[in-house]
Amino acid sequence: MTPKYPYDLRTGYPNTEILVPHEKLAAIAQDLLLTDRATQYGGILQGPLMPREQIAKWLTANATQPATPEQLVITSGAIAATDLVCRTVTEPGDIVVVEDPTFYYMINILKMSNIEVVGVPMTPQGMDLEALAGVVEQYGERLKLVYSIPSYHNPTGVNASPENRKKLVELAQQNNFTVLEDTTYQWLYFDSPPPPLCRHYDNGSGHVVSVGSFSKTLMPSLRLGWIWAADEAHAQSFTKFKGDSVASTLTSGMVGEFIAQGQYDTQLEYARNHYAERCGVLVEALQKVMLDYVQWDVPQGGYFVWMTLPEHIKAQDVLELSQARGADFMPGRLAYVDGADDRYMRVCFTMMDDEKLQTGAQIIAESIEAVAAR
Ligand SMILES: Cc1ncc(COP(=O)(O)O)c(C=O)c1O
Repeated sequence: MTPKYPYDLRTGYPNTEILVPHEKLAAIAQDLLLTDRATQYGGILQGPLMPREQIAKWLTANATQPATPEQLVITSGAIAATDLVCRTVTEPGDIVVVEDPTFYYMINILKMSNIEVVGVPMTPQGMDLEALAGVVEQYGERLKLVYSIPSYHNPTGVNASPENRKKLVELAQQNNFTVLEDTTYQWLYFDSPPPPLCRHYDNGSGHVVSVGSFSKTLMPSLRLGWIWAADEAHAQSFTKFKGDSVASTLTSGMVGEFIAQGQYDTQLEYARNHYAERCGVLVEALQKVMLDYVQWDVPQGGYFVWMTLPEHIKAQDVLELSQARGADFMPGRLAYVDGADDRYMRVCFTMMDDEKLQTGAQIIAESIEAVAAR
């Protein structure tokens, strides 16, 4: 992919040249094709059994609860998984809560279900649950779904605390809504793992559904993710709107085989080290050049540094100056439901090499300074 700007700190994609184990995946794909094991349609709507078995085995070893293949639906990534869950648990006119800000793309995906999206502010401990309780009070049974990214939140990088996760699940149980937890970054920690998934705090009541992805850990072009439901009937309920039919036997087979060979554990370790190293380069550059009045935290995992500008500096003005010099970032307002507050910047460290991260950080800092001096 050729970025539009040479210093691309906007796009939240992996650098596939570095991340993807090209030869290993090619060998697996070749074997699956030459033996005619991944050329046919793939059975039931939950997805082919072998990859579900392997994903379940991997989740069992890497989450705090055992997973079974019956609980899983293989999807075209976490985005499609979220769409399926939303279509299933809501009806037009219902309310879906998102963290405000959230993964901007998901706001549009959720809206495809003709629901109303309501934003609840973030705190350093995760979603503001007092504000959520207010939404519960206001909308009652119209609130059906809360979409949350509890670990290495996109865009803020926040890790919800264990207490916050537990309380969110309790609220869901008491008020009968579903928590849809997006675990895309859960296993992309740098030093130590984040708290357990939200489902850890559910007693199998089905108030938490987890969705996951192989896009950021292995290869986005697989278009592969999963829904992890409470049991088989719960999982099957999410296949009702599966308009793309069965999952690809080829890409799900590749991942299943990759896990079965023990390669996914090695890959994750590699991905974690690689991202930690990219993050380290950006953080070091920012520590040298960023202005004191810009607030930001050192990420502990994930993809992004989230920055807050003083009230009088607009991210859009900074962006225009930066882009004119070739450096791009995402204005944080795009990640908000109403998009009004223009004080935030999301800076991604995964795509660029050292020099580009350093120069990009420098250009952004100088652009902030220039806007501040106006
Ligand atoms: C929170 C979150 N969920 C999901 C995705 C994408 O998932 P997928 O490629 O599996 O559809 C992203 C990618 O940016 C993301 O940040």
